[in-house]
Amino acid sequence: MAEMKRKFLVLLACTAAGLMSVAATAEEFDGDPIAGKDKSALCQGCHGENGISADATFPKLAGQFAGYIKKQVLDFQAAKRNDDTMAPMAATVTELQDLKDIAAYFSSQPIMKGEGKGKGNKLGEDIFKNGNKAGAYGCANCHGSDGKGRSSNNPLFPVIGGQHKGYLVKQLNDLKSGTRTNDPAGMMADIAKKLSDKEIEAVADYVSSL
Ligand code: HEC
Ligand code: HEC
Repeated sequence: MAEMKRKFLVLLACTAAGLMSVAATAEEFDGDPIAGKDKSALCQGCHGENGISADATFPKLAGQFAGYIKKQVLDFQAAKRNDDTMAPMAATVTELQDLKDIAAYFSSQPIMKGEGKGKGNKLGEDIFKNGNKAGAYGCANCHGSDGKGRSSNNPLFPVIGGQHKGYLVKQLNDLKSGTRTNDPAGMMADIAKKLSDKEIEAVADYVSSL
């Protein structure tokens, strides 16, 4: 019974999110990736020329959904998401069209690829696919079976497969502690709060290898 209720809630969350994303999807194609290449010169300094950053402090943006990149930058601008390094960078993008072009550029780059040995992390794989006993849903339900998003046109659920492990651990901890609160309906924080430190380490290890 509890399991059925849980499945239903996941379905409900995903459906609502899917509906919300219809509007966002239409906007995704407004950006010009060619113009965005020049406009993103500053961003490339930390996030890498092709959106593959060298340092785990800086998330990879290559192949990330344009709508998701745009949302995050707007959230930093509105102080809905906070980071001492990234917030002043977001503030430099004052024109919405520039933001759309920059997002289109990173989104059009060959998608981030897995690294490390995390594929063999059994605990991480189990959490990714099935969730845990504390009630965290399996990540694959929303982020897709390969962590590359739930579907190709749903920017609400970001690409996480192949992201830097250190960045994934930081985000999960920030969501768990309430430092990051910009996820729609607290959907992601709810899950992070149900993961132990050991589980965060394991699932980040696995996801970064996808
Ligand atoms: C000086 C380094 C630096 C520069 C330059 C920079 N960023 Fe960032 N960016 C960061 C850091 C650090 C984070 C991670 C913040 C955190 O830990 O929450 C980040 C996070 C992001 C995210 C969130 C990604 C995700 O997966 O949620 C986006 C999108 C982003 N940056 C876009 C940009 C854009 C667009 C520019 C150029 C206008 C830019 N950044 C310039 C350091 C930088
Ligand atoms: C019910 C749907 C759902 C499930 C299940 C889910 N997530 Fe998420 N996750 C989201 C949403 C929505 C966001 C985007 C938040 C935002 O827009 O700021 C997100 C964001 C993230 C981020 C931040 C990505 C970035 O680039 O900053 C990470 C990391 C993450 N999820 C990891 C996981 C892991 C690991 C699991 C499994 C333990 C998981 N998620 C399960 C919905 C979900």
